Amino acid sequence: MEKDLIVLGIETSCDETAASVIKNGTIILSNVVASQIESHKRFGGVVPELASRHHVEQITIVIEEALKEAGLTLSEIDAIAVTEGPGLVGALLVGVNAAKAIAYTNNIPLVNVHHIAGHIYANRLIKEMTFPLISLVVSGGHTELVYMREHGEFTVIGETRDDAAGEAYDKVARTLNLPYPGGPHIDRLAHEGKPTIDLPRAWLEEDSYDFSFSGLKSAVINTLHNANQKGITIDSKDLAASFQASVIDVLVTKTIRAVKEYKVKQVLLSGGVAANKGLRTALEEAFNEMPDVDLVIPPLNLCTDNAAMIAAAGSVLFERGKRSDLSLNANPGLDIEHF
Ligand code: KG4
Ligand code: ZN
Repeated sequence: MEKDLIVLGIETSCDETAASVIKNGTIILSNVVASQIESHKRFGGVVPELASRHHVEQITIVIEEALKEAGLTLSEIDAIAVTEGPGLVGALLVGVNAAKAIAYTNNIPLVNVHHIAGHIYANRLIKEMTFPLISLVVSGGHTELVYMREHGEFTVIGETRDDAAGEAYDKVARTLNLPYPGGPHIDRLAHEGKPTIDLPRAWLEEDSYDFSFSGLKSAVINTLHNANQKGITIDSKDLAASFQASVIDVLVTKTIRAVKEYKVKQVLLSGGVAANKGLRTALEEAFNEMPDVDLVIPPLNLCTDNAAMIAAAGSVLFERGKRSDLSLNANPGLDIEHF
């Protein structure tokens, strides 16, 4: 019998300090996330300096807790997977330095992981990957369609030209005076309203898989502004529903077109916006009509930032021989196709 592969994952790219231990790439032994959302809320978004300070305060406690919950000591860890980028540089540095220190003092191999590769591999904690596949990645910082021919190979076939989907959700939420992060609030309101307001859909060039959400965001803001000036009140539920309908329409339509063109066997939904109920339902309905394509949607706690996803990606990369060393540095602009 082969020995189990035990990987410790560390994630600090934005506003969650997270550590997780997973076995054989798919079994979660622990998944600890310390969220800073409450601290950033009053500023309406993530304050980078505050994020770094919180990570420094939390990182040791979170790693110790992850090991304790897994019932393991560092001597039983085969590899440490850490988010190298993209993200906030000061935040990333805390995770990278913690990982390097533990790797060095305990003589454990280190694997650098791309944050979005992590979001994609969150799906492998639910179901084995079948290639070729496409992942629709929708997070606070990214909106991408990523094609994978096999493990560890990522090709970006489309990406946002301006705002990420989550960013658009958060900005629209702010306009509606909803707390940060706004995505879940818009999602909730959208289900209580009706998409009665006509908002634009940025399809871009006919053959493009790129996205653009800044025009839609501005249209929402203008709609509110114009109504205010005329003394008309707009139902924020209907506005949320209309905004959400536009986002989902573009995301789902482009995903289906890519799935057909690239003849993929599986579609993975990844990133924080994957927690969106409307998007999950729309994809499920669309892929019910395509029984040859396997749609995988992770549970909510694996959609938003966590370290189990970093450990999951790190496990596969480690098995494929990927190693980092003590020269590893945080890379806020890391490219998923070359890392
Ligand atoms: O992946 P993530 O946790 O962090 C990044 O890597 O960016 O994504 C956070 C984003 C935020 O913009 C948040 O508003 C959005 O995910 N989000 C949602 C929902 N839950 C979280 N957006 C829409 N609907 C939701 N239910
Ligand atoms: Zn993320």
